[in-house]
Amino acid sequence: MMNRRDDDGGHGGAPALVMTGVSRCYGRRRHRVRALGGVDVTLPRGSFTAVMGPSGSGKSTLLQCAVGLDRPSGGSVRLGGDELTRMGGRALTRLRRERVGFVFQSFNLLPALTAEQNVRLPLRLAGGGARRADRARAVEALSRVGLDDRAHSRPGELSGGQQQRVALARALITEPELICADEPTGALDPATAEHVLALLRRSVDTSGATVLMVTHDPVAASYADRVLFLAEGRVVEELAEAGVRGPGAAAAARIAARMRALAGRAGAGAAPGAGPGVPAGAAGAHASEVAV
Ligand SMILES: Nc1ncnc2c1ncn2[C@@H]1O[C@H](COP(=O)(O)OP(=O)(O)OP(=O)(O)O)[C@@H](O)[C@H]1O
Ligand SMILES: [Mg+2]
Repeated sequence: MMNRRDDDGGHGGAPALVMTGVSRCYGRRRHRVRALGGVDVTLPRGSFTAVMGPSGSGKSTLLQCAVGLDRPSGGSVRLGGDELTRMGGRALTRLRRERVGFVFQSFNLLPALTAEQNVRLPLRLAGGGARRADRARAVEALSRVGLDDRAHSRPGELSGGQQQRVALARALITEPELICADEPTGALDPATAEHVLALLRRSVDTSGATVLMVTHDPVAASYADRVLFLAEGRVVEELAEAGVRGPGAAAAARIAARMRALAGRAGAGAAPGAGPGVPAGAAGAHASEVAV
């Protein structure tokens, strides 16, 4: 059964994550790129949110700011009530280690370590991980992603999809309160993708974890409770539960239809040569709930 609480996070304390007016600019002057231009996102505890949007719209930047891997240029990021933007490097590192699981778009496995050692790494960094029980825990995490038989393989000996699953096992091993996954199914075949998505869904429904997942795939997004659509560094639309989840392909079709509509608006409204920091078309619209 679902574990979700009210959208305002009023029950059960602070929401898992509150981002307010978050902006992120890279580079200077003529080379300045505004990756995020004032994003407001609240994730209730025990919720599953998908983030979609064109390449370069700021999805990875959003996730990295959410978990303190990147520092916003402005705005506030609160994880379970703790303000990340005011934390020093050490406190942030500890917070990431203990409270957050992150699956990178590029996996980020350590090539010299076996799959089992990679998965065990967060436990080791937290001061444990060497015990037999921790090894067993790592193998168990690998078995949850269907890879217990590859525990002794190094990333270079694994396929892209297998590496992605090792990265997921590593993100889940500490049972973090917030799991951020950047295209966790991008390199997977449909059956394995379904397995991984069901695993994420289960961590929300049975362990009360909160998941924020970037995906380009409407089927993957249909595992979420909510889809946020990003364009040019802004949340331009939100598709809430009724439009997201539901019987099988119907939900994915609704999400795909919203994606197409947004892409059409962006195409129609974009000024020729508009830079990444210039809101145009879809980016000029305000976030809204869409009843489908
Ligand atoms: N370290 C950086 N330095 C300069 N520009 C950056 C940096 N990281 C991201 N950007 C720029 O910020 C914008 C948003 O990038 P981001 O990686 O968040 O996009 P994305 O939505 O995740 O795209 P994709 O779907 O291709 O992964 C892009 O224009 C990108 O070039
Ligand atoms: Mg990205």
